[in-house]
Amino acid sequence: MAEELILDTTLTKAEKYRQLLPQIEALTTGEPDLTANLANTAAALRQAFGFFWVGFYLVKGEELVLGPFQGPIACTRIRHGKGVCGASWAQATTLLVPDVEQFPGHIACSSESKSEIVVPILKNGQVVAVLDVDSDQLNDFDSADQHALEQLMQLAATWF
Ligand code: SME
Repeated sequence: MAEELILDTTLTKAEKYRQLLPQIEALTTGEPDLTANLANTAAALRQAFGFFWVGFYLVKGEELVLGPFQGPIACTRIRHGKGVCGASWAQATTLLVPDVEQFPGHIACSSESKSEIVVPILKNGQVVAVLDVDSDQLNDFDSADQHALEQLMQLAATWF
């Protein structure tokens, strides 16, 4: 296992993801513990991109429950369909929110969060968790984030 991430700051965002994803794969390959893999993934994403908040919510019954994350403390439970995370779970699809104040029912864990992307993790067609990434800048996520994070969440699905 690599002890340090290689992060070239001169790269474009898409290139950074291309550099990072194989490193996350190497870091998690052979490790059977879900918490360990989710925790290192959250840390690697925050370290590479400096996101305000990055973490996982796990499906437990009728709710999402806070899992491994990096950043300020956050809401612990989110009901099905509620907020961006609950909507992504209900729709089993990625949600890109350029301005969280314009998203009906957005759950404000922090007033500093301005834009957000939520990517579901699907196992056998069922959402088992979501990745939530928040930025303190408006309109901070685009199709490059969506493409790379969806690819990463396909890897994450193998940990469940
Ligand atoms: N904003 C999210 C809640 C989670 S926090 O941002 C960490 C939502 O609306 O689902």
